Amino acid sequence: MGQATFTPAVEIVGPMAGGGEIGAFVTDVDLVNPGVELPVAEIMDGLETYGVLIFRGVPIAADRFVALGQALGELEILPEPDKRHPNHPEIFNLTNVGSDGVIADYDDPQSVFLRGTQRWHTDSSFREIPCLCTMLYALEVPSLGGDTEFADMVGAYEALPADRKAIFEQAELIHSYEFSRANNPGRMNPMSDEERKKFPPVRHPLVRQHSDGTRSLYMGGHASHIAGAELDVEAGLDGGRALLAELLKFATTSRFLYRHVWQPHDLVIWDNRRTLHRLRPYDIANQRRVMQRLTVVGTEPVLPVS
Ligand code: OGA
Ligand code: MN
Repeated sequence: MGQATFTPAVEIVGPMAGGGEIGAFVTDVDLVNPGVELPVAEIMDGLETYGVLIFRGVPIAADRFVALGQALGELEILPEPDKRHPNHPEIFNLTNVGSDGVIADYDDPQSVFLRGTQRWHTDSSFREIPCLCTMLYALEVPSLGGDTEFADMVGAYEALPADRKAIFEQAELIHSYEFSRANNPGRMNPMSDEERKKFPPVRHPLVRQHSDGTRSLYMGGHASHIAGAELDVEAGLDGGRALLAELLKFATTSRFLYRHVWQPHDLVIWDNRRTLHRLRPYDIANQRRVMQRLTVVGTEPVLPVS
């Protein structure tokens, strides 16, 4: 099989600064045909270099999609059976379309969940070992909106002044599913005791170090506050949240972004270790957006700088 070609997607967002370079279109690989060897090492290397890989025009069947995911690692299985693909429990049907068409009810749990992904986040950072990457395959996309934005946390870290880097390298954040669920735009069911036990708040370094030595910011919507900083909103103690909001604003300015405008049969794989992402709004009560998602389990804890 030929070598995959990586074409940086930077021209879509204009010149990058701060060392950030995020997103690449990948061509010259065959992901679709069963029997063709999957370019696992190239995808893993590409993720480390570009953070987001885009495969355009790949009509991949569900079983081949799962095979690709499994080739990259162990796959998460979502707790909610109703969101699973009937034949492939690893596939999460990420859609605003129910059995009766588009879900028009703004407070329907599925539509509430989708609104939650509109906040900057990195998937499953509330886990002790967060996931490695997410794979999203588009079946139907809205005619306007519903883009996904990705932010380069390596570039954002590198662009910080040295004194800020030194401070942030000392910090740890508390990531909590209970917190992010409670703060979801739109009410989600409160966590059950069982869920609370399964997902207790965890602590991760704000600056994480990767196996190739690069460093990146690790933050986003599941992070509730800075470890050790007091969080008591009524007493005016915000747990460092204002500082985190300021840092997030800096790290998600346009020079660190790649915005993906979806076409049907796009497959996008993003590295949750070194990027943040968010869904951009669309007419969720009228326009169909049908996506399939796989999540590859992480292989190591979030490591601090050393
Ligand atoms: C997700 C997510 C973004 C999108 O599934 O975790 O953030 O564009 N999705 O649907
Ligand atoms: Mn997500």
